[in-house]
Amino acid sequence: MARGGDNTMDKLVSLCKRRGFVFRNSDIYGGLEATYDYGPLGVELKNNVKQQWWRDVVTSRADVVGMDAAIFMNSKVWEASGHVQEFHDPLVDCKNCKARYREDHMDMDKPCPACGIKDWTEPRQFNLMLKTHYGPSEDSASIIYLRPETAQGIFVNFLNAQGTARMKLPFGIAQIGKAFRNEITTGNFLFRSREFEQMELEFFVKPDESAEWLDRWVQSRFDWYKSLGVTESKLRLRQHEGDELAHYAADCYDVEYEFPFGWSELEGIADRGTYDLDQHAEHSGKKLTWFDPQNNEHITPAVVESSAGVDRTVLTILADAYHEEEVKGEQRTVLRLHPKLAPTTAAIYPLVNRDGLPEIAANIFDDLKGDFAAFYDAGGSIGRRYRRQDEAGTPFGITVDSDTLEDETVTIRERDSMKQERVPMSQLHDYISDKIR
Ligand code: GAP
Repeated sequence: MARGGDNTMDKLVSLCKRRGFVFRNSDIYGGLEATYDYGPLGVELKNNVKQQWWRDVVTSRADVVGMDAAIFMNSKVWEASGHVQEFHDPLVDCKNCKARYREDHMDMDKPCPACGIKDWTEPRQFNLMLKTHYGPSEDSASIIYLRPETAQGIFVNFLNAQGTARMKLPFGIAQIGKAFRNEITTGNFLFRSREFEQMELEFFVKPDESAEWLDRWVQSRFDWYKSLGVTESKLRLRQHEGDELAHYAADCYDVEYEFPFGWSELEGIADRGTYDLDQHAEHSGKKLTWFDPQNNEHITPAVVESSAGVDRTVLTILADAYHEEEVKGEQRTVLRLHPKLAPTTAAIYPLVNRDGLPEIAANIFDDLKGDFAAFYDAGGSIGRRYRRQDEAGTPFGITVDSDTLEDETVTIRERDSMKQERVPMSQLHDYISDKIR
């Protein structure tokens, strides 16, 4: 089976637009670089990814609670976190055509890829935080930043969340939310955009237990991508080299995926030590500690962080699911999405628009829609309907035909194998539930 060749990304972008997964932002005005909109199918896929993460990381665990902090934060947060001083990328300009690049992504001995002339400025540090004015005055005192990560919203709420939820070490606080970075180099579709979403867990532990918890979370997070059906051989873990570590991290692993453009980071899992709580305690003057009743002492917990990108996960899932194959001399494009992530779980097709079949199909739709993402599709030939739903990644197709009138059975077509099976209408719920599990 073909994986789609070298131009898989182009084909994926085109399928995403054609089927309503992802659109270029402000498309009718020529777009806005590095910003994307999710369409009717894309928002379902993205919500399913977030719900799965929330279930697996938060609600199914007794030692993790969730929260939802605002995007705007007091500017002192970003001074304390180190982002004002440290959150830079090295920038170079082409003096001839004014194109800008990240110096660490370029061979400075070569000419500018845009104009072919080699005339670079000296590299300089460029802060990635986006600024805006908060409130009606536009003076320097009103400047605040759009958060470049959701993590700080958790650290500044450490005492609030721990106290109200009565959590004892080790415990985690998790959230999903938007983050913004004025990236110098964008591209590769959803991989690096200026507005994106993160799913972050800050897991607080006794400082001498952080290495052990880092190992556990690294394994657990790696396994999570496998549980979403991502091909195992395209996933790997990579430990950061010393000089690669972020300013706050003592140790860090990336989960990487082999995207069509090469191996790249999907998620980072880091031992941040006590850096964050120490910094906020120092800058705010508040004591950010936990009382350890066993040893009768106040300690500053260390943090193991799992920081995943929602959009990168969506891109991974789409790229991994994209397949092209030949069926009976015809080209078929299919998204082999895990049934628990697919935007539509079951499409219901009346074979013809007469003999009472549309009414029976509509009843099946009504019956399934409360428990599954069901879709009623009566438009066009059955072959065309199958192809549309294959591209949408719908795992089950339910066809209502004249035999249904006789024996109350329907045909279920399984997306990947294309095998067809007769199933009594009364057993559809159980059949689909079993397959999803
Ligand atoms: N709190 C730690 C932190 O933010 P990071 O490695 O800078 O760490 C974590 O970001 C994750 O957020 C990345 O692994 C990636 O999935 C996602 N991410 C970061 N920048 C992104 C961007 N410009 N576009 C899309 N996703 C991004």
